[in-house]
Amino acid sequence: MNKLPYLMAARGIVKSYGPTSVLKGFDLSVAAGEVHAFLGGNGAGKSTLIKIISGQIERDGGSLEFAQNRASSGGAETPDENSIAVVSQELALLPHLTVAENIALPRRHRAWSQFNGGEARRIAVDALSLIDPAFAHAAVDRLVADLSLHERQLVEIARALDSGASLLLLDEPTANLTAGETERLFAVLRRLAVDKGLAVLFVSHRMREIRQIADVCTIIRNGQTAVDRVALTSITDAEIVDQMGQAAVDITKEPPRDQRRRNGSTGTHAGTPNTLRMQTEGIDLEIGAGTLLGLAGPPAGPEALMDALTGVSSTNEWSIARNGMAVAYRRPSAAARDGIGFVSGDRANKGILANLPIVDNLAASARVIGRKRTVRDTEVTDGRDLLHALSIRAGSLWDLPATISGGTQQKLLIARWLKLKPTVLVLEEPTRGVDIGTKREIYTLIREMAAQGAIIVWWSTEYVELAELCDTVLAFDPDGRPTSILKDTQINEAELAHATGMAA
Ligand SMILES: Nc1ncnc2c1ncn2[C@@H]1O[C@H](COP(=O)(O)OP(=O)(O)OP(=O)(O)O)[C@@H](O)[C@H]1O
Ligand SMILES: [Mg+2]
Repeated sequence: MNKLPYLMAARGIVKSYGPTSVLKGFDLSVAAGEVHAFLGGNGAGKSTLIKIISGQIERDGGSLEFAQNRASSGGAETPDENSIAVVSQELALLPHLTVAENIALPRRHRAWSQFNGGEARRIAVDALSLIDPAFAHAAVDRLVADLSLHERQLVEIARALDSGASLLLLDEPTANLTAGETERLFAVLRRLAVDKGLAVLFVSHRMREIRQIADVCTIIRNGQTAVDRVALTSITDAEIVDQMGQAAVDITKEPPRDQRRRNGSTGTHAGTPNTLRMQTEGIDLEIGAGTLLGLAGPPAGPEALMDALTGVSSTNEWSIARNGMAVAYRRPSAAARDGIGFVSGDRANKGILANLPIVDNLAASARVIGRKRTVRDTEVTDGRDLLHALSIRAGSLWDLPATISGGTQQKLLIARWLKLKPTVLVLEEPTRGVDIGTKREIYTLIREMAAQGAIIVWWSTEYVELAELCDTVLAFDPDGRPTSILKDTQINEAELAHATGMAA
C-alpha cells in the first residue's frame, strides 16, 4: 500500500487569468497535525491556490492529491466529503440567514424541511464559544447581514472550526480579530492539531502571528515555490521577507521618536488652523495638525468614535469640535465635504465598488465631495497617477476590482484620498491584508500626509503598528469605554495591551 505522506499535496499547479500568469508550476504539501504558514506578497497567488485546493476555481495544470480515510488507496484527486473547510479572505456567509443557520447548514445532509433550529443553535453556540462565549449567546439568532465585519469573521471561523474537517484553509483569518480573540483562536487550532491531527494552512501578513502559531512555512514568489516546507525555527524574518521578493526592510526596527512628531498641538494646514476635539464621559482630547492619533482596543469603542467623526452616527456619546466649533455630521458625505476622509475596514462591503471599474473606485471620494456623477477625462489621468503613486499593479483602469488581490484592493481605498488632502483622515485598520513591504509604503504615505498638516485617526488591532506610528493613543476597554490617553514613550505593545484589558 502506497500511503500519501501528506494530507494534501499540490504539485506543479498552473493557473492564469487571461494573460496574467499567476501560478507557474507551484508545489505545496501539508501534513496532518501541522500549522503551515503560506507566505507571499500581495498578488502572489495565495488566495488563488486556496481556491484551487477547495475547488472554488479550476486549475489549468498540475495535480492535487488528498489522503483518503479509506485505507485502500494511496491518494485521490478529490478530497473526502467535508474534509476541507475554508475561511476565505473576503468572507463568504449567507447574509439573509441567521448565525446559527450559517454555522450549522454546511453540516446538514438532510433536506431543508428537516432542518432542526434547536439543534442548529446548539451547534452554533458550541462553535462560537470556542472563541467568545458571550458573543455566542448574543449573536446566535441574529441575521448575518446585521453583523459587523469583525463579528462576521468570528462566525466564519467558528463554522470552519466546527466543521470536523481534517484540513483548514485560513486565508488571513485574524485580519479583523482583537489580540485576545487571536490568542483564543490559536489555542483552539493548537489543540485540534495536537489532539486530532488537524492540518492548517494559514495565510497572514503578520510576522509575529506566523511565528506564534506556525510550525513550517512555504513561500510563493513569481508563481513558484521559493521556500518549501521549511521549519520556522530555521528561517529568520529577514530571510522570509527576502524570499517573498520584497525590498529589504528592517521590519523590527522602530524609527527614532523625534522622527515621529511633527508640528505642535495646534499646527497649521497651509495656513489654516486644524484642531480636533473629541469629548465623551471621562475623556476630553484635543489634537492638532500633524498628530497621528491611534485608537486601541476591541472594535466597539473605536467604532463609536469613528462613526461620530465620519458622519455615520451624529447622535452617539461623542461630541466633536473642529477648530473650536462643534460639529455633528448627519451623513458621511457631509463629513467628507468638510475635509474628513475615511478608509473603511470593511473593504468588501463598505469600501470597494465591486461592479465598477478600478477608475471609478479611485475617483469615488472625489466624486462625493464634488457632487459629480459622471466620469471626467481628468479622472483617468488622476487614476493612472494614483496607481503609480501606490505601485498598484492592475491590468487596466477599466478592469473590475475582483481582478486584483485583496491587499491590492486595500491600496485603492487609500489612494482615493491621496489627492484630496483631507484635514482629518480616519483609518479603520488600513493595512488589513497588506504585505510587509507594502505596509511600509502606506506608513510613509500616512506620515507624509501628517507632515503636511493632516490629523490622522488610526484604529488598528495590531499594536506593534500603533506603537510604531502614533504619537498619541486613545485606549478603549473591552466594553468600549475609553480608558486612557497614552503619549509618546508610553506607547508600546505592553502598555497598549494593559490599557485595553488584553494583557495576559
Ligand atoms: N478574477 C481574476 N481575474 C483576473 N486576475 C485575477 C483574478 N483573481 C486574481 N487575479 C490576479 O491573480 C494574482 C494573484 O491574486 P491572489 O488574490 O491569489 O493574490 P494573494 O497572494 O492572495 O494576494 P493578497 O496577499 O493581496 O491577498 C493577482 O495578480 C491578481 O491580480
Ligand atoms: Mg489573498
